[in-house]
Amino acid sequence: MKTEVSTDRKAAVELLRKGEIVALPTETVYGLAADALNAQAVAKIFEAKERPRFDPLIVHLPNQDWLERVADLSTQDRQLVLQLIGRFWPGPFTLVLPKKPIVPDIVTAGLETVAVRISAHPVFSEIIRAFDAPLAAPSANRFGRVSPTVARHVLAELDGRIPLIVDAGPTTHGIESTIVTIRDGKIDILRRGPVTREDLSKFGKIEIVVPGEKVSAPGQLPAHYAPKTPLRLIENAKSFVPAENAGLLAWNPLKIDKRFVAIRNLSEQQDLREAAANLFRYLRELDAIDDVDLIVAEQVPDRGLGAAIMDRLRRAAHRDEPDTPARNL
Ligand code: TXA
Ligand code: MG
Repeated sequence: MKTEVSTDRKAAVELLRKGEIVALPTETVYGLAADALNAQAVAKIFEAKERPRFDPLIVHLPNQDWLERVADLSTQDRQLVLQLIGRFWPGPFTLVLPKKPIVPDIVTAGLETVAVRISAHPVFSEIIRAFDAPLAAPSANRFGRVSPTVARHVLAELDGRIPLIVDAGPTTHGIESTIVTIRDGKIDILRRGPVTREDLSKFGKIEIVVPGEKVSAPGQLPAHYAPKTPLRLIENAKSFVPAENAGLLAWNPLKIDKRFVAIRNLSEQQDLREAAANLFRYLRELDAIDDVDLIVAEQVPDRGLGAAIMDRLRRAAHRDEPDTPARNL
């Protein structure tokens, strides 16, 4: 199959209507979309990504009217859910709620819950409104790889497997949406993201669901977001002497330095938003340099958006066995 890269939004809608899969920009990362109510179309996402069927997908809605067509709002949680979506939708915020029967089992991997969000990206939102029904869309990477934040990276992942990539330049946030669920009136954060713990704490008691303890999102497995090159997380590169050819993913200001084959600075101004937006792109760039045998990443402040960045870096550094590339979804 030939993969087109274009800005043709009409073509995207037509393909989706025919039950095809299309890569689309969102404000977080590029997604691989299919008609969420068409099980056969959704199956193509799993095939193209080589994603295990036990891993459920996020359902993106055209507008809020769709919410109660795909999900149940319990009387108990209703007010909190409405407050949260009133504040964070459209945007990088995903809610896991009890599902309605209209959502095919393949989308939720047989779970009784469905993950839903409304994207704020103008191109995504134009396409989904024209399509006028929910779209299932995981990140547009193959299983075991870093999420794509530019069209070129989607092509590197899925060339020949999908008919179309809609190109709208780099994504704004650069990391995937925050995923939460409501339990006994409390907000459980299943995946950290652009909507931070601090943002959410105004709405209720927060709990971070520690991966491994209660893995309710398979994307929360400890080994996740890993490049092919081994990655090591360090405090500061200033006093670090790499034993092998290393590329540095820097947080602290550092000019050209002979200790490192290549350096990518997440944000010269040490701005966490900019750092998040650059994270996956720089990881990919360092990963693609042949001479780099090790990626060394400096830690960023573990608060606000920094906590979401650290979460990705910790998982990228995690390996089950020394020589096996860690897997992600
Ligand atoms: O920003 C994003 O969320 C991007 C864009 C494309 O929207 N999408 C994304 O999808 O990151 P994906 O599939 O790569 O990650 C979705 C995560 C997975 O870890 C999955 O396990 C979890 O959401 N998930 C989906 N449905 C769930 C459910 N019912 N319960 C718990 N976790 C769920
Ligand atoms: Mg993903």
